[in-house]
Amino acid sequence: MQKPAARKTVPWWEKGVIYQIYPRSFSDSNADGIGDLEGVIQKLDYLNDGSERSLGIDAIWLSPIFPSPMADFGYDVSDYCNIHPLFGDLDVFDRLVAEAHHRTIKVILDFVPNHTSDLHPWFVESRSSRTNPKRDWYIWRDAKADGSLPNNWGSAFGGPAWEWDEVSAQYYLHTFLKEQPDLNWRNPQVKKAMLDVLRFWLEHGVDGFRMDVVGMILKDPELRDNPVLKDDLDPANPDGPYYQQLHVHDQDLDEVHALIRDFRSLLDEYPERCGIGEVWYELPRWIKYYGSRGDELHLPFNFRLMKVPWDAGAIRESVDEMEQALPDFAWPNYVLNNHDSPRLISRVGDEQARVAAMLLLTLRGTPTLYCGEELGMENGVISQDQMQDPQGFRLGISYSRDLSRTPMQWTDGHNAGFSSAQPWLPLTPGYQSKNVAVEDRDPTSMLTLYRRLLHLRKQRPALHSGSYTSVAVESSDCYVFERSQAGEQYLIALNFSHEHQKLRIPGWTGGKLLLSTYLDAAAVFGKNTLDLRADEGVIIEIKHNHVTRQDG
Ligand code: NOJ
Ligand code: CA
Repeated sequence: MQKPAARKTVPWWEKGVIYQIYPRSFSDSNADGIGDLEGVIQKLDYLNDGSERSLGIDAIWLSPIFPSPMADFGYDVSDYCNIHPLFGDLDVFDRLVAEAHHRTIKVILDFVPNHTSDLHPWFVESRSSRTNPKRDWYIWRDAKADGSLPNNWGSAFGGPAWEWDEVSAQYYLHTFLKEQPDLNWRNPQVKKAMLDVLRFWLEHGVDGFRMDVVGMILKDPELRDNPVLKDDLDPANPDGPYYQQLHVHDQDLDEVHALIRDFRSLLDEYPERCGIGEVWYELPRWIKYYGSRGDELHLPFNFRLMKVPWDAGAIRESVDEMEQALPDFAWPNYVLNNHDSPRLISRVGDEQARVAAMLLLTLRGTPTLYCGEELGMENGVISQDQMQDPQGFRLGISYSRDLSRTPMQWTDGHNAGFSSAQPWLPLTPGYQSKNVAVEDRDPTSMLTLYRRLLHLRKQRPALHSGSYTSVAVESSDCYVFERSQAGEQYLIALNFSHEHQKLRIPGWTGGKLLLSTYLDAAAVFGKNTLDLRADEGVIIEIKHNHVTRQDG
């Protein structure tokens, strides 16, 4: 199959690479053990100083930095138009935007539209009485006649999605923690207030938003029960009802798309502002978030490669299936790591993580990297008494997202150079060898590989904007594809096995090796054949296209 090259004028989010910063864990400038915005400013040169010595990313997405009681580490916002004092203030934020833009780095904020904190003044008012003007800003319901919950919906963090309020004697809905009450987006005042929030930050110069669980913001007005997947629904099950239901009434309603089009219209009032969304649904429902005319999200996050088995065939299938399903106006994107999931490297190992880096940075689509991914950072080791994540407390330590939130590893010194104080989460063992300072000096390190890939991608337009063609090979352990545009052509061959692979590529006359994941020049290829070492990925520049294409 072949997918077209991008349009003539390519927006920054199609060409560029996004880097997610988890601010608590990135860099602590004031010795309180928690990362902050000043810390981010100090590290901007590491991210992109315009030279090939720096990483070379194009945008940073900051996980929430707003005032918050931190019940869910910032995804419980108590003031949408300010900065949490732990992270800085609006002046530091403005300076961060200016410093980032000076380095051609775009700034993306996290927008949390589904719920506020229970300490947000809107909710404090709303819960104060049934007649408060803000009562209807949240979703309140009476108990059923028999005193039971309004419906069977579950919280993603376990247990029911309803919390009883003693004072006003009603339940309120919370799809996440009880400290995160869901807003009622059917109330026009809520919509107006939240669009004003987006405008506030656009006026501060931000370049886009990552919209948290944006498909969930509208609920069935009748609050009908979700169909239950298992008959033996056990309320004591640690996963709770959320994981045992089909979410047909509490999320992904068709009506939500009109709201997302409104978000997009607002973004379009400003030049080149990007809308990204956290959207987890199956392919046909997920694609709808681009909008039927490309008038919704620019990039609904594509998390599929986080979920498929680490296997050449499964990955190729996932990519090809998505490429084939996308309408021409929709630009793909890929994510391998984020702050909610265990790190991929801890699943696939150090060698395959290098193949993953090449895959992510050569596919057709915007890559989003997660801080530390470029160092080969592994899952943290967190004991019960070190655990911070509410999901871990409610669902059990194996669900704790602390694993991927440990401090960024800058040096092999005290606290890995993250902070001079005790960090809020323990350092991940092995930081002495996996850190920026040590890897910077090592010509074969993971960091060096990411830098080389990022800069090659920038320099070769076909690698960021070119067409994608899946190439047929006999070995089921290898995934081979081609990127091309305007006379430029590259073959990317990835070995997903720990064994050497000899590939026959009929009709191929060879080319020039641009990069091997081994960061040497030893890859062997001749007429019709390509030898890949164990766990090796290569990018080869080819002059003429004689490669056999595989359709579908
Ligand atoms: C998704 C966010 O990525 C996650 O960290 C958060 O807990 C939930 N949404 C609720 O906001
Ligand atoms: Ca700090």
